[in-house]
Amino acid sequence: EDLVSSVDSEDQLEKLHEAEQLRLNDPYSALREFTAVVREQPLSARAALGRAQCLDAIALAERSNDRLEQAIASYRSVLEIAEDHPELVSERLLRAAANTLVDKLRFRGHLSACVSVQKRLLRLYPDDAVLHNQLGITLLLQGQPAAAQRVFEAVLQRHPNNGLAQVHLGFILKTTRGNNTEGARLMKAGLASQEPGTDDARFFFHLGDALQRLGRPQEAHEVYVEAAAKGLFLRPTQRSLYNVDRLTAKPVWTLEETTYKDFLRKLEENWKDIRDEGLALISAPKSSGYQPEAENLRDRGAWGQLELYSRGRQNRVNCARTPKTCAIVGSFEPAAGCRRGQIKFSLMEGGTHVWAHCGPTNCRLRAHLGLVVPKTEPVPVIRVEDQYLTWREGEVIVFDDSFEHEVWHNGTEARLVLIVDLWHPELSSEERAKLSAV
Ligand code: LMR
Ligand code: MN
Repeated sequence: EDLVSSVDSEDQLEKLHEAEQLRLNDPYSALREFTAVVREQPLSARAALGRAQCLDAIALAERSNDRLEQAIASYRSVLEIAEDHPELVSERLLRAAANTLVDKLRFRGHLSACVSVQKRLLRLYPDDAVLHNQLGITLLLQGQPAAAQRVFEAVLQRHPNNGLAQVHLGFILKTTRGNNTEGARLMKAGLASQEPGTDDARFFFHLGDALQRLGRPQEAHEVYVEAAAKGLFLRPTQRSLYNVDRLTAKPVWTLEETTYKDFLRKLEENWKDIRDEGLALISAPKSSGYQPEAENLRDRGAWGQLELYSRGRQNRVNCARTPKTCAIVGSFEPAAGCRRGQIKFSLMEGGTHVWAHCGPTNCRLRAHLGLVVPKTEPVPVIRVEDQYLTWREGEVIVFDDSFEHEVWHNGTEARLVLIVDLWHPELSSEERAKLSAV
């Protein structure tokens, strides 16, 4: 039995065996037994692991973070025993404890603690590519892509075909360095490996996007079709990642269909007041006015946004400067309370192209109120899936921005619209209250 650590006496081994039998059906009694062994023999890794697993089960049953923290401490003690007395802990036992410890620390958001555990494990197994990859993933979760990049690069130096390192390094190069060529090459190779952990919607999402930007739309399309067939996207042209499955999905909606017609008509009736408030802030100082679009969606040109609401929360400073607009949208809960959307002015200069992209969620519909729309050709155009729309001053259009959309403004004068996201009408108020903010 390679799970047995040699420190345990005959008597303790019997107790451990008993506790292990009990664990699944009665974690509370098993916990008492494991704890008794730990007291007698603090170096028993097997008792520490058993104790951790009981606490883990209890944490789940009681939905208790305190219990989970106790479980984490106990998993951690297995690692400590192994570091101080390597001969007392089998590799299999240590790895079982360490893998779970890493999962739990990530789940609790203790990412720096997780990184330090992973670095300690790597001191024990310095050549283990799986452990290196796992460290890279935690660094990425932690918002340290440069450090993660170094880890994945090191793995690929020794194992050039490691698929998990390929998808992650490709993802980092594409999303943080704008390196579409190398990003696409690596993500494509990594996905082709079909290694566990590679089958993630985000890799397909960014591989397709990189290919599109490289002028390889046919290959991008194939990637999207494959991911949709795997159930990773709702459709090849609807690639949002935070979805409720049953919702009616269509690219363009009439005002009537949204069920919010009265509100949308009210926006139209007040369009001049809204326009004037949006225009007045164009000359505001750079730091407090329209902010350049920050999601790297622009191919060329200039595109700024002034946020009034985001994730169901008001931007007080901006709302104080656009009081009429905020009074209208702020009193309409499906808009102001839409925690999966925003309300914002969107100012696009002539000479702008926004790459084809999909919004993050299918839980909202996006209304645009036209405020300043140049009338000289070429007028600005938006494509939503395969429909081409334009704006008219004082009129609302509604589309589902989880569908692929792309904007061209090849004219010379700026275009201004008010963007108002609204909860998808088929979401009940209970669902709206429960969904995480996006
Ligand atoms: C978008 O939602 O990506 C664009 O339609 C925004 C805009 O200002 O046109
Ligand atoms: Mn968009």
